[in-house]
Amino acid sequence: MADRPGCRVCGGDLRQFVDFGRQPLSDAFRLPDASEEEFFFRLAAGACGTCSMVQLMEEVPRDRMFHADYPYLSSGSSVMRAHFAAVARRFLATELTGADPFIVELGCNDGVMLGTVAAAGIRHLGVEPSGGVADQARAKGIEVRKDFFEESTALEIADAQGRADVIYAANTLCHIPYMASILNGVRALLKPSGVFVFEDPYFGDIIERTSFDQIYDEHFYFFTATSVSAMAARHGLELVDVERLPVHGGEVRYTLAPAGNRTPSAAVAALVAEERRRELTSAATLDGFASRVEKIRGDLLTLLQDARDQGRRVVGYGATAKSATVANFCGLDSGLVEFVCDTTAAKQGRLTPGTHIPVRPPEEFRRSYPDYALLFAWNHADEVMAKEQAFREAGGRWIRYVPDVHVL
Ligand code: SAM
Ligand code: TMP
Ligand code: ZN
Repeated sequence: MADRPGCRVCGGDLRQFVDFGRQPLSDAFRLPDASEEEFFFRLAAGACGTCSMVQLMEEVPRDRMFHADYPYLSSGSSVMRAHFAAVARRFLATELTGADPFIVELGCNDGVMLGTVAAAGIRHLGVEPSGGVADQARAKGIEVRKDFFEESTALEIADAQGRADVIYAANTLCHIPYMASILNGVRALLKPSGVFVFEDPYFGDIIERTSFDQIYDEHFYFFTATSVSAMAARHGLELVDVERLPVHGGEVRYTLAPAGNRTPSAAVAALVAEERRRELTSAATLDGFASRVEKIRGDLLTLLQDARDQGRRVVGYGATAKSATVANFCGLDSGLVEFVCDTTAAKQGRLTPGTHIPVRPPEEFRRSYPDYALLFAWNHADEVMAKEQAFREAGGRWIRYVPDVHVL
């Protein structure tokens, strides 16, 4: 896996701005007795000097990340369940009101969004390559094609089931490096009147919050309205709406339509102008981000080492994919973080990738509260802190590292 010669969207030159070194696959939780060698790659990000797209410098083969044992379950958060039910209801009331409407979702995971669509009796298809989570969606009565979405998949679906009114992808498009194939597929599968809607972490929020742990193997692209607009135009599509979302630490929902078919909303021009004003991908902005990341690493390590030296217990909260970047970059181990608790059955009883910290159910956290909980699932902070009020009441403190290292 040599570094790519250029931008994965336009072929332009990439300027690297941050390097996290050797990193494991973020969702490769290991069995304690596993003997196979762990896979590592070089995690670094750069920005394209031509189209401004921010992206990883090295690409991990997709089958290593998305397979039958992919552990991430979308339904694990009550806030996200409500978010996706609202997304579905909005489509049902707007884009899906014509004759025999059809919606396709890329990366439907366990069916958290399509469940509501299926319950309304609307024609739908989830395209999901990770077999285990796809089975969970099917068990809810959702139609799923176990496959990677790409141009050939799109052509087959269009042939067999006709074109779609909506193609939707949440936290999935940014996972897919082969963008030309995806957007050609979207063009072929979408009705002329249709929309392609996707929501992903917003690079503007990553810069603002220094949320460097959004950078990991699966997150290949970091979108802005500016870069998405340029990317869409290469494939006969147009960015016609943007919406900022509070979920997952700050996202944007982008709506694309076949070029010329819909009038772009004022929000598009406003966000592009704001990105220009903030100089989001200038060398000064990106280098400033990289130095703040170094400071967070130093501050977090000092805090955790001091806690250990004073005999305090620290437990990690949420074995998120994001935490792989933090833990491996900072060199955390089970001497600094005793274990990480997580509600996902497929992660429990395993070890965190690269750092080999045990993952245990949240009941272990509640059985004997530590002095500190390191909030790896900071994007679910409101939900987690509300649920764990008794920890605070027992004198426990939360450690957070976004936007800087602080104790609550
Ligand atoms: N949409 C869900 C959500 O927002 O919670 C799931 C997001 S999960 C982080 C990303 C999903 O994308 C995984 O379930 C993965 O298997 C799927 N995926 C990866 N590459 C894909 C592709 N080429 N086509 C469709 N799904 C893909
Ligand atoms: P995410 O940030 O990629 O959504 O991952 C969140 C992880 O945190 C996932 O493994 C589930 C876990 N989690 C908990 O353990 N408890 C919770 O209350 C929530 C919301 C998530
Ligand atoms: Zn480019």
